[in-house]
Amino acid sequence: MAIRNLRYDGDEILSKVSREITEIDDKIKELANDMMETMHKYDGVGLAAVQVGVLKRLIVIDLYEEGTQYILINPVIIKEKGEQICDEGCLSYPNQFGKVKRPKEVVVEALDLNGKKVKIKGKDLLAQALSHEIDHLNGKVFVEKVEPGTLETINPNDRKEN
Ligand code: NI
Repeated sequence: MAIRNLRYDGDEILSKVSREITEIDDKIKELANDMMETMHKYDGVGLAAVQVGVLKRLIVIDLYEEGTQYILINPVIIKEKGEQICDEGCLSYPNQFGKVKRPKEVVVEALDLNGKKVKIKGKDLLAQALSHEIDHLNGKVFVEKVEPGTLETINPNDRKEN
């Protein structure tokens, strides 16, 4: 396992559409494990492969509670319900936060690392994370969806003092 380099604000790869994964080989498994490790290193709750420079439809999520770790291949939202306004950030936009409207509940279909079809029902933070990461696979980033006037830059040094 290895930490991968993150891609940041201004990198044009973040606006590209990722490709379907047709074969879950050792390279994909290694990528998924590296993404999980990279996300943990930077205290993220989600990461899409494009954020480590790989245009493949793979996301990882960890809400840091039992049973909330997911590795999802070719995830698709098949159902959305309700709305929530989320305080949101992104590992590719360090120190930037804003309010984003997300579905309150989603149902996602995907494959797991064994190629088995899985269906996940997520609400609240899980719905937000699934929606945010699947947006990345379609070349969309949260700053495009931020409610006008709510995007803030927060200096991490200021945060520690609070
Ligand atoms: Ni993100």
